[in-house]
Amino acid sequence: MRDPANDPHALPEPDFLEEVHSFEFWFQAVEGYLSERPYGHAPLGPEAQPPAGDVEALITTLCNYCVGETAALEGASGMIGFAPSRQAKIFLATQVVDEARHLEVLLHRMSELGVENPEAQIERRANQGLLTFKRRLLELVAAREWEAAVFAQNVVLEAMEFTVFEAHARRADPVTREVLEGIVKDERRHMGFGQNDLGRRLATTPHLRGRLLEVKHELDWLVLQTFEQTLGEIGLERSERPELGRDYLAAVARLGLLE
Ligand SMILES: [Fe+2]
Ligand SMILES: [Fe+2]
Repeated sequence: MRDPANDPHALPEPDFLEEVHSFEFWFQAVEGYLSERPYGHAPLGPEAQPPAGDVEALITTLCNYCVGETAALEGASGMIGFAPSRQAKIFLATQVVDEARHLEVLLHRMSELGVENPEAQIERRANQGLLTFKRRLLELVAAREWEAAVFAQNVVLEAMEFTVFEAHARRADPVTREVLEGIVKDERRHMGFGQNDLGRRLATTPHLRGRLLEVKHELDWLVLQTFEQTLGEIGLERSERPELGRDYLAAVARLGLLE
């Protein structure tokens, strides 16, 4: 366990980045919630499964989560090649490991729910808007547009995943809840990386703001409408859904990117 007296936020900025972008930091963060939880959850009995009527909607939701995780897996791995510092490359390597694990545990969860070929179900059920977001993210990565790619992936996608997974975990069956709670802890780190990196860049390069607003206009509604659909599938009342937009806008507002 990390000693709270060793809070990395108390370090000077170069030391802070060295610390929080390291595998050492990652190991200490994940060991508490990943050890002894094969495929993201402690072994639980059949009573922990969702009611039969809820399974179909849950499978569709998990399919869309898999599209988001695959986007982040492929995006983060591609970004290592043009990341602007060694620390950022190492952080992205930890993110690649996290996203691959997320994809693996979500596919495994579908198998536990009786899906014989999860990948075929993803093809059949994935939301078109999210697939378009994934294609555009990977185009930004292929164009080696660091700031736009960090923003699309580590702010837009991660902030929405973070909010939706948290909301879903509160209502899910015990197994899905444990899997999602583990994922959310990782997504918080990924979001922190994006906000920290872009926050520093925006402070020194104000003209970046225009480019990031363009990316926001083009991409955020694609993710927002997918997760709106997801929140409906997991049974969240319409009156409770504004929290998604609110949490997402708070993440964007922290970067000063609200118009
Ligand atoms: Fe993820
Ligand atoms: Fe992530």
